[in-house]
Formats: sequence, C-alpha cells, structure tokens
Amino acid sequence: MSPSSSVGPLGSGAFYQRWLGPLLARDEGLDAEQLSQVALTALGQASLRRRWPGVSSVLDGVAADLQRRDLRLEQVLFGCRFPNPVGLAAGFDKNGVAAGIWDRFGFGFAEVGTVTWYGQPGNPKPRLFRLAEEQAALNRMGFNNDGAQALLKTLDRQRLEPPGQRPAVLGINVGKSKVTSIEQAPDDYAASLELLAPMADYAVINVSSPNTPGLRDLQDSVQLRRLVERLRRLAACPPLLVKIAPDLDDESIDAIARLAYEEGLAGVIAVNTSLDRLGLAQRRLVQTGRTLAEEAGGLSGVPLRGRAIEVIRRLRAGAGPALPLVGVGGIDSPESAWERIVAGASLVQLYTGWIFQGPDLVPRILEGLEGQLDRHGLRSIREAVGSGLPWQA
Ligand SMILES: Cc1cc2nc3c(=O)[nH]c(=O)nc-3n(C[C@H](O)[C@H](O)[C@H](O)COP(=O)(O)O)c2cc1C
Repeated sequence: MSPSSSVGPLGSGAFYQRWLGPLLARDEGLDAEQLSQVALTALGQASLRRRWPGVSSVLDGVAADLQRRDLRLEQVLFGCRFPNPVGLAAGFDKNGVAAGIWDRFGFGFAEVGTVTWYGQPGNPKPRLFRLAEEQAALNRMGFNNDGAQALLKTLDRQRLEPPGQRPAVLGINVGKSKVTSIEQAPDDYAASLELLAPMADYAVINVSSPNTPGLRDLQDSVQLRRLVERLRRLAACPPLLVKIAPDLDDESIDAIARLAYEEGLAGVIAVNTSLDRLGLAQRRLVQTGRTLAEEAGGLSGVPLRGRAIEVIRRLRAGAGPALPLVGVGGIDSPESAWERIVAGASLVQLYTGWIFQGPDLVPRILEGLEGQLDRHGLRSIREAVGSGLPWQA
C-alpha cells in the first residue's frame, strides 16, 4: 500500500486531520478529556460488535487504511509475537473498552489500564490540558478507572482471542489504588494481577505515574524488589515489565536495570509523564490562567522526547542488549521512532503524538521504519535495536 493511501480523500488520516486538526491546533475549545471519551465510547461499541457484518466492514476499511504487514517488523519478545514494534501507550484505553480492535488501527500491541484494584474517579476536572503549540499535554488524571473486576468483565464481553492468538499483543498495566497504603501496595497490585493474568499477554507494574501520592516511591530498589517478588509468586504470572519515570536520577535508573536483570523481569518501559517542566515552567494554561510551574500533573509529548531517549540509553548501557526496552515519550514521527529504536528500544509506544497527528501516524512510522531497513541493508527491525544507526533521508 502506498504511503499516501492513509491520507487519501477518504482515508482515516485525512478524515481525522480535516475534522479534528483545527480543534487540536488550539489549547482552548473542545475539552481534551471529553474528546477522548467520545472517541472511546464509539470505539468501545465497535469493539463489542466487531463481528457484526456492518461494523466489520467499516473496521476492515480502517484496517486497509492503517495496517501494514511486513515480516521484517515482527519480533518475538518475552514469549509474545509482536507483528510490529508500534504500540498504544497506557492511559488512553484505561478500561480496555476497545481492546478487540486496536490491531485495526495498525498497532502491533496495545496496553490497557492503568487499572487499580478498586475503581476510582481520579482527580477533579479539568485534569487534562492540550499544549497545542508545543505538541504536548499536561495531565493529572489520577488513575481514573473502573477497577480490575470491571476490566475483566469488559474484556470478557469483547470475546477476545486467547493470549498468544491475537492479531495484536495485549498488555495490562496495573497500578496502586489510591486508598491503599504504600505498605499494602504489593497485595493491591497482586489482587489485580491475579484476576487479570489470564487475559494478559504481558503485564506492567506502573510505579511511575506522578498523580498518585507516594506511588513513585515504589521505584526505590528495596520497595520495587518486594513488589516484584510478591507478583512473581502468583500462580500464573504473565511476563512482567516495569514502567519508570523520566525524573529518576542516573543511579536509580542503573539500580532498576540491575533489578530487572536479577529478578528476571521481561522488560522496562521508559518513560511515564514528567514532573519536570521541561523548559515550559512559565507557559500559562489558557483554562486556568496559571503557569505550568504552578500546576500539578505530568507532562507528555514532544518536550519529553530528549529525556526519554536519555533514559533508554542509560537503561541499555546498564542492562545490556538482552533486556527488552519499550520506548515511550514524544514519539510523533518515523524519525523519532527510529531514533528510539536505535537507542535501544525494541518496541515504541504512542500517546500524545498519536492524538495530535491522528491515526495515520502509525502507518507513517511503519513505512518509515521499513524504508530505514532498506537503506541500511538490515533484514529485520531487531538488527536496528541499539545499533545507533542514523536516520537516512
Ligand atoms: C492523559 C494521559 C493519561 C495517561 N495515563 C496513563 C496511565 O494510566 N498509566 C500509564 O502508565 N501511563 C499513562 N500515561 C502516560 C503515557 O502512557 C506515556 O507514558 C506518556 O504520555 C509519554 O508518552 P507520549 O509523550 O507519547 O504521550 C498517560 C498519559 C496521558 C497524556
């Protein structure tokens, strides 16, 4: 399929840019969270009914537009077959409503959650802000989600194929309930994971969201080891990855790389949103009139990119090539995806860039990666991981 097909007059990319482009180009106007909710409600209905003839033909059209199949992009990592290295990051589909159709959008994998044992409303609204000019977002959602039992029901109702037989890999990202103390955290994570393990191709221990007080303390090696060891005692523990913050210092990153090796973790996901204001401390939010220095929440998108690459490089140096890394933060183009892969990430994830650029970002990245494999004479994406090879125009 030609690169232009996804931006053709009837393509999903063109549709998105035409209708949403102008809305996303401004901070104010349509509320960012409401917009996501409307989209997710529609996607959730489509996922539930994806085998109905009318719905399935619409989804086939979306897939024809956005999916790219190239065996060179496939990898088997921690026992999962990833058809391509581009995934949907955690936080967009927190309740897993569209888990059955993320492959149609071209993703090789999708991570649902963060889910907590107890359903919780999250922080007061507004809690998600677009920073259009910077292609960034500030959020302080606070793990709003319906809880682990509801997620299980939602996934069940979609009648997904069993793990290992799905068109795209499904990760489940687990966090700590707000009402649970840090001391009780291992049992809280374990309760969610025990329930959801049969649905997960892999699971993520989220210890890095900035909007749950105390959560990031669990990145400390002693606490993290206790947590990992608790989860590994579960009868059927899926491959376990840890998701870390961009705000850790080098020693803490090294300690996590060591722990990942010693505990036999499946991988590390770097990074979550940042508490650092990344040069934007004086930027004012239109909605509140306050500066980012005065606002609570984590930053994502383009300003996070530089730090996210540094963390991947540091992890790669500390853990060596055997530990799979997932790169996330500020990826919004084929070049930025390639840069993350050659820095050491086997897989990449999208969130803020995908919202701003629209669904055709996925095929654009996949086509860009294929082009780089051609130019560098590589047989598979695996050969590019950690290679340091430059983007060649
Ligand atoms: C609105 C919003 C909600 C998020 N919720 C979660 C979450 O529940 N769990 C999680 O691990 N990360 C969450 N994230 C972080 C993203 O998964 C990702 O790590 C981060 O946004 C950096 O990637 P990006 O620059 O491509 O957005 C959230 C991000 C945003 C913008």
